[in-house]
Amino acid sequence: MTTSRIAGFYNLPLGERLDKLAESAGLSSDELAAFQTSGLSADQADHMVENAVGTFGLPLGIGLNFVVNGREVLVPMAIEEPSVVAGASFMAKLARAGGGFTVVTSAPEMIGQMQVLEVKDLMSASMELHEHKAELLAEADSIDPVLKKFGGGARDLEIRIIEDSPIGPFLVVHLIYDVRDAMGANAVNTACEKLAPHIQQITGGRVHLRILSNLADRRLAKASCTVLLKELAFTNADGRTFTGEQVRDGIIEAWAFAATDPYRAATHNKGIMNGVDAVVIATGNDWRAIEAGAHAYAARDGRYTSLSTWGKDADGNLTGELEVPMAVGIVGGATKVHPVAKAALKLMGVKTAAELAGIIASVGLAQNLAALRALATEGIQRGHMTLHARQVAISAGASGEDIHRLAEQMVAEKAVGIGRAEEILREPRRWWRRRW
Ligand code: MEV
Repeated sequence: MTTSRIAGFYNLPLGERLDKLAESAGLSSDELAAFQTSGLSADQADHMVENAVGTFGLPLGIGLNFVVNGREVLVPMAIEEPSVVAGASFMAKLARAGGGFTVVTSAPEMIGQMQVLEVKDLMSASMELHEHKAELLAEADSIDPVLKKFGGGARDLEIRIIEDSPIGPFLVVHLIYDVRDAMGANAVNTACEKLAPHIQQITGGRVHLRILSNLADRRLAKASCTVLLKELAFTNADGRTFTGEQVRDGIIEAWAFAATDPYRAATHNKGIMNGVDAVVIATGNDWRAIEAGAHAYAARDGRYTSLSTWGKDADGNLTGELEVPMAVGIVGGATKVHPVAKAALKLMGVKTAAELAGIIASVGLAQNLAALRALATEGIQRGHMTLHARQVAISAGASGEDIHRLAEQMVAEKAVGIGRAEEILREPRRWWRRRW
């Protein structure tokens, strides 16, 4: 990939956008076709879920302008909400002037939990487990030879005592498992199930639940960016000017709200997840797992707060950081079965799950910046309105070129609604077309 900055991409006809992807990332005609048809046949769907009757499509857009750890990357985003792809692309453009996104990821370690009930003496059972730790780890390590071959496997065992619960005290054993490039749920769940009898034997208790934790706080992705002050200044369509300082300070003030108030933090983080989920879905990963992990991580100190942080550097530039659990894989599951997911991974040229995690965190941060910038300046509705108007136009029955025209008219009239759209469509065509 030479550049993720494809000027005029937005204005190209859909077919030419695909040509650009073929040029930039060497996608084959089959891979491009998968993007256009959702990729998954009803027959394939039938092998994936029970009672299948078909598939469900989502728009797939391309996040442009992203530079992640110095690498240009075109980002596939599956999402139904207008403005998200445009917002992320625009903010990636602002961030690239400051060097793009810098990403660090921790080891791909997942946590498997075993709940041990009916233990007579929790303290001594816990000590026994510590004594047998090496043996238990060796056993867990041998469970998945494929993972082991690629450098993964059991890393640690943690023993926790839950003192106070509705059923009284019990023991919890955490198996820390390096899952390399897999999402890891299967590997971890299998390891926990296989280890359980030995744990029962050591503790004298009964292992009840054996399942991974979605609070993947040992598998984090941290993205950061610097947005130069001069990139933040702008004049809006009404001729209103915002200085770089105003925009920067407005964004920091908006973040402070989310940092201190859970009502605002939920919405702030939802904006982050608009970007995160879009890439997670496009790559066939489990977005419910990512959502669960993100929100639990946001409440890790006992109070739900912002997942991102915004501030300024010594030169007055805006700085942002997002740290979030990121249990995504590039092998196994839908990532290797779904034709769109396969093409999406190829488009990004990712070679490891960690690389994918870093891109996703960068998109989350870009999306957060887009929302805060809009909220802190002209408000969110202006940008949303045109795209929303297009959806309204489609719902009212417009097609082709008329969608755009009808949307423009409704925005100009400041009357975006299905009623008005239908009214305009009912007008004699020559008459309402003449307006443009
Ligand atoms: C809408 O999908 C997301 C926002 O509400 C996020 C935010 O308020 O930060 C705009």
